[in-house]
Amino acid sequence: MTWRNTPARWGAVSQSLHWLVVAVILFQGASALWMVGLPNSPSKISLYALHKSLGLSLLALAALRLGWRLHAGAPAALPGPRWQHAAATASHVLLYALLLAVPLSGWLFNSAAGFPLQWFGLVNLPALAAPDPDLRALARNAHEWLFWLLVLVALVHAAAALWHHLFLGDATLARMLPRGWVRSGSDAPPPEDPRHA
Ligand code: HEM
Ligand code: HEM
Repeated sequence: MTWRNTPARWGAVSQSLHWLVVAVILFQGASALWMVGLPNSPSKISLYALHKSLGLSLLALAALRLGWRLHAGAPAALPGPRWQHAAATASHVLLYALLLAVPLSGWLFNSAAGFPLQWFGLVNLPALAAPDPDLRALARNAHEWLFWLLVLVALVHAAAALWHHLFLGDATLARMLPRGWVRSGSDAPPPEDPRHA
């Protein structure tokens, strides 16, 4: 597998970043929903610190991914109606925006609450805003609701990928996975469909 994206497939960098972000987001979301309900204790404080450090790592990964995407481009679009291409592009843009907005709203909430912020105890990060109770409440709600919006869009996105794989039989999912992991569609660049050219 090549590192770079080709016209036919996502390369190793894009694939690794995609699936790493999916795995860490799953852990991050599930552990956060559990952590907020815990009674106050030293382990709750440690979980909050881990949540913030992992969240900042996700922010860096999202920025890295976006940078790589802008630098390396994407494989050629597979044949399909225009509305599907438009829906896929819109949902990918929204996913990137949410991958940045969810951790940034958490960072803003942490700043407005006046809490210190460290990345795995190694680096001190600056506050994004001065302590402010109104901003704290706003950012807290934004953090939670943006997270649920991310869950919703990601579920629709994953369902669309599976639908392409199982019912349309094209290479949408196969080319986001290492060669040979799933058998479907073709890894070759698609011929132009004259109906949608
Ligand atoms: C993509 C990364 C992140 C995800 C998916 C995420 C997700 C969540 C979720 C689901 C909750 C629970 C909300 C609730 O039901 O009450 C939460 C709470 C929280 N998050 Fe994040 N978060 C992320 C990044 C961050 C970052 C970077 C920070 C701070 C720098 C942060 C700070 C917090 C804090 C302090 C809470 C607890 C709020 C409370 O106790 O009221 N999060 N997060
Ligand atoms: C937290 C969950 C997820 C997020 C945030 C996410 C995010 C993204 C983003 C932003 C892209 C666009 C890539 C680009 O243009 O640079 C993408 C592509 C893709 N994702 Fe996901 N994804 C998630 C989960 C999933 C799951 C569970 C699947 C499979 C079941 C999946 C399958 C795909 C496929 C096949 C592509 C390539 C689409 C194409 O070639 O047009 N994703 N994903």
